[in-house]
Amino acid sequence: MLSGKVISVNSGKGGVGKSTVSANLAVSLSEMGKAVALIDFDIYGSSIPSMMNISNGPKSINNKIIPVESHGIKIMSMGFIVKNNDPVVWRGPMLGKVINQFINEVIWGDLDYVIIDMPPGTGDVAMDVNRMVPNSHQILVTTPHPTSSHVAERAGKMAFQNKHQFLGIVENMSFFQPPDYDTKYYIFGKGGSEQLASKLGTELIARLPIIAPNETDFEPSIYKKGNLLYDKYKDLATKVDDSIA
Ligand SMILES: Nc1ncnc2c1ncn2[C@@H]1O[C@H](COP(=O)(O)OP(=O)(O)OP(=O)(O)O)[C@@H](O)[C@H]1O
Ligand SMILES: [Mg+2]
Repeated sequence: MLSGKVISVNSGKGGVGKSTVSANLAVSLSEMGKAVALIDFDIYGSSIPSMMNISNGPKSINNKIIPVESHGIKIMSMGFIVKNNDPVVWRGPMLGKVINQFINEVIWGDLDYVIIDMPPGTGDVAMDVNRMVPNSHQILVTTPHPTSSHVAERAGKMAFQNKHQFLGIVENMSFFQPPDYDTKYYIFGKGGSEQLASKLGTELIARLPIIAPNETDFEPSIYKKGNLLYDKYKDLATKVDDSIA
């Protein structure tokens, strides 16, 4: 069973940074001394194992699963179950089973926070997770582009219909500022996230710039000290912790 407060990182839109936000928020909360679990519910497109450079899978004991640990975080992902990066070809009923297994058949222990990396879209997986994990705090991730916030609005409404509450909007890929330059380039435009926040009656809780990855890094998606995004995720984790407390 899951204990702790559930934070669902959602968007509806693909490729806006849900997994990146989930993983870095989980790491920041863990560095604050919190007991954190990270569940990658992107069944068809799991990316947490590769983002966190995890090559080992979970073990089991007495028919229960022991989650994989990285950065002090307990992690479950479909990526641990499917071998050789093979595509998942399951239909509806199997999805519900694996979601239930991740919630009820994993030895999670005592947790402060459970971060859920949601899949894109508002299909079967999103519906099942919304239903099977009640009372979550929703973070909606969007770029500033109006098309992105328009899609995120649907995921937000779906969560709201399932009685989840909004924690706020994270605007990712807000702008690009070349190192040593003052000019910010608003590559995906401006304004979509403010519009989304006002439509859903919530607020913008982070604005995260575009920063090119360090290709030689062992985990290029997990931002390290010295990277501006590391500080931004620290601020986000503090805000989230204060707001939920
Ligand atoms: N602030 C950022 N600056 C630069 N690159 C970023 C930033 N945020 C995310 N990315 C990159 O954008 C890509 C998409 O991010 P990510 O996989 O987290 O999105 P997603 O919403 O989880 O996608 P999907 O819908 O496929 O699950 C990744 O390659 C990621 O490293
Ligand atoms: Mg993802």
